[in-house]
Amino acid sequence: MRKPLENIKIFAERRARVAKALGDSVLICSSPEEYIRNGSVHFPFRQDSNLYYLTGFEEPESVFVFRPGKKPETVLFVRQKDETRETWDGFRFGPEAAQELFGLDAVYPVEEFDKQIVGLLKGADSLYYRQYKNREMDAKIERALQDLRVAQGRTGYGLLAVHDADEFLGEFRVIKGPAELENHRKACQLTSEAHLETMRFTRPGRTERELHGFFIYQIMKRGAAREGYGSIVAGGKNACTLHYVFNDEPLKEGELLLIDAAGEFNYFTSDITRTYPINGKFTDAQAEVYEGVLKIQKSIIDIVRPGVPFMDLHKMAAEQLTDLMLELGLFSGRRDDLIQTNKHRKYYPHGVGHYLGMDVHDAGLYMDKKTQEPRKIEAGMVFTVEPGLYIPANDTDAEAKYRGIGVRIEDNILVTNTGHENMTQACPKEVSDLEAAIGRGSSL
Ligand code: GLY
Ligand code: MN
Ligand code: MN
Repeated sequence: MRKPLENIKIFAERRARVAKALGDSVLICSSPEEYIRNGSVHFPFRQDSNLYYLTGFEEPESVFVFRPGKKPETVLFVRQKDETRETWDGFRFGPEAAQELFGLDAVYPVEEFDKQIVGLLKGADSLYYRQYKNREMDAKIERALQDLRVAQGRTGYGLLAVHDADEFLGEFRVIKGPAELENHRKACQLTSEAHLETMRFTRPGRTERELHGFFIYQIMKRGAAREGYGSIVAGGKNACTLHYVFNDEPLKEGELLLIDAAGEFNYFTSDITRTYPINGKFTDAQAEVYEGVLKIQKSIIDIVRPGVPFMDLHKMAAEQLTDLMLELGLFSGRRDDLIQTNKHRKYYPHGVGHYLGMDVHDAGLYMDKKTQEPRKIEAGMVFTVEPGLYIPANDTDAEAKYRGIGVRIEDNILVTNTGHENMTQACPKEVSDLEAAIGRGSSL
């Protein structure tokens, strides 16, 4: 018998916090549709972050209905036990064991969802549900809302109002408490170590793919369930393709490597980027760009504390990176004009960071919904700080020595009551630390 991944108390505590805000509304979250290729080959399944956040239940085809203050309050629909299917696809808890082991009020076979859902929605103030994640579930919910309206007879009541569950739960997920941070720290630690091992393994002649496979081995060896997102392993000018996906070229002498990769632990992911020379020694031009970006990244991290608008970090990155572009002679003119006309985006086309948690681009609002003002940083938030500079290989505006250099440095920052903690501090980024590690041989 498999067991829940974590102590189920964590999920009950989360539900208690969410219940207060939910009032008399009902919340539904369901598994994403399974991705099946060739009619039979299943791709690795990962539970929907919200469903996992509230239940700890990892199986596909599950639906969770949360009805605070009502009986039953926590209802989960799951796949039935099935000897044949379990021989092919592996263990299933089934309703009985799921109810007991996950501490839920009622657990039914998923086939009963259609029959039960109207009754479970009856008397609710509104429904929290995120559409367009699972089209089959969307159709079921749409039908349930219509059936519920009809079942109300001639009361004049309309359709139950539907609010976005992801936005609602995002405001809980954006602030990380001790249980979340334990997993998050572990993800950051194992990802930092995997990056260091990959640095030691790097040398000219190896390929991007070889390093990618090596990195995956390093995170999984340390307990990661999977990569937190599609890794980018980009040698030389490939680093200037922001979402480089091929990861299949040889690593060349004299070029840089940009690796943006992370492991996920108990549904929390890290998100680290490091850039370093494949042969272990920065050229002068590479060092100029690298040290420039590193200085900026550190100065942005330095100002992180509660009360600072997240937008200030974006602004600071744009300003300082544009100053660096001017120093490197990529542009002439005034910094503010370049930013105002968006010219700086030629070399820095992305934002400085994003919330991080169960999803790499994690849930949570960036603007205050009422005032439409940029949101201020709060204790318990985790986000990335990842400035970068990318000089295209064919950019005739740049001196030849800079062409094809792409640098991004990305760390994961936890906001504390008094400032911040860099959760990926253990991953080397100083020039001397990188040069001491690269190609020195991994301990595997
Ligand atoms: N790895 C995705 C990102 O940095 O946003
Ligand atoms: Mn990122
Ligand atoms: Mn990243």
